[in-house]
Amino acid sequence: MRGFDAIETASRDEIAALQLTRLSATLRYAYANVAHYKAAFDAAGVHPDDFKCLEDLAKLPFTTKHDLRANYPFGMFAVPREQIVRVHASSGTTGKPTVVGYTAKDIETWAHVAARSIYAAGGRPGMMVHVAYGYGLFTGGLGAHYGAERLGCTVVPVSGGMTERQVQLITDFKPDIIMVTPSYMLAIMDEFQRQGLDPRASSLKIGIFGAEPWTNAMRTEIEYGFAMDAVDIYGLSEVIGPGVANECIETKDGLHIWEDHFYPEIIDPETGAVLPDGSKGELVFTSLTKEGMPVIRYRTRDLTRLLPGTARTMRRMEKVTGRSDDMVIVRGVNMFPSQIEEQLLKSEALTGHYHIVLTREGRMDEVAVHVEARPEFYAPGGMDMEAAVVMSRIKDTIGLTTRVVIEAPGAVERSVGKARRLVDRRPRD
Ligand code: DLL
Repeated sequence: MRGFDAIETASRDEIAALQLTRLSATLRYAYANVAHYKAAFDAAGVHPDDFKCLEDLAKLPFTTKHDLRANYPFGMFAVPREQIVRVHASSGTTGKPTVVGYTAKDIETWAHVAARSIYAAGGRPGMMVHVAYGYGLFTGGLGAHYGAERLGCTVVPVSGGMTERQVQLITDFKPDIIMVTPSYMLAIMDEFQRQGLDPRASSLKIGIFGAEPWTNAMRTEIEYGFAMDAVDIYGLSEVIGPGVANECIETKDGLHIWEDHFYPEIIDPETGAVLPDGSKGELVFTSLTKEGMPVIRYRTRDLTRLLPGTARTMRRMEKVTGRSDDMVIVRGVNMFPSQIEEQLLKSEALTGHYHIVLTREGRMDEVAVHVEARPEFYAPGGMDMEAAVVMSRIKDTIGLTTRVVIEAPGAVERSVGKARRLVDRRPRD
């Protein structure tokens, strides 16, 4: 049980002592250098001097995406713009993008935690890594790229898209590892089959998948399809990018948070109260070492729980089931796309290519689940029995009546990056 860094398996006391020192320094630094934090702390009547133990963090105000937008583009930076060597941004669905900035030291930290993540996933120096996360303002491509280089791997910076070429490069270069969104991995798997190639015979041994929620059912699907280990990587731009937390290949039991750089809390999303470890709620992060854009109690909207360490002493977060924004309430029932995914993948006739369309007929919300059949099981007009079985599974587990439409292979739109699972066509009222 050895990680990339000794701190990953240090005692809890040692980790907590490091966190306290770093948190205290971060609060002072943010207060002194970012007008937003000074104003927010002052308004809440708190001062960095009030911070004496880790629990005191709960006294500080949260930071939200709204705060980042209000300070668009560079207002959250703690250093003069000239010291920022890189910016990334996420588009979001509405309004201005959220901009994040990194100093040279931050890029260094990020490469380090990304390298640690790839190592936890089973990556080792000398391996070849095919990066199919998008390069650009999105943090996926460059984050994975710097991490793999730092670990001492050979990086193939393919970016997303041009699926035919992805397959050609995997076949010709024979990479050991692929880093890509799980939904796009399914598209790559289909392309292998379309070209008459067996994905199980490919050189890929490890897949490091993240940037969107994916279930353990999807893990089984990909692991079997490619005869590989599929490991979960988590991160978000506001906190640093991919490499905030990663699963260990030896246990695959949730993601170890790199707690020496990112301090996690779980809160009740309604009241903002901090919940004890083990409770499900919204994940909140405070950066411990960031220079360019420190974040204090940033609300991720991701729902999970904190669990004790296993393969590392650092705490784990349970696989993220969804974001609070992805949860839809249909006829009084709360539903996440991932819950539907789990039920779909219980059927061997169906694939992980699906989307959920919400409409309103009169006053009733209707849920249609469009899912693609596997080519070998597809019978045009003859899938009603299968659809009925899936509908009753969804009804029994989630309590929701849906209409399951089994589509022909290739009929559901493919994503190159993050999949869009939910299409809400209900009128806004
Ligand atoms: O998605 C960073 C990333 C890139 C992570 C590549 C992993 C791999 P953003 O575009 O800022 O950053 O989106 C962050 O994506 O708050 C989650 O809702 C979701 N997300 C990221 N990783 C996972 C994961 C990147 N492993 C948002 N499981 C986060 C579930 C994830 N959701």
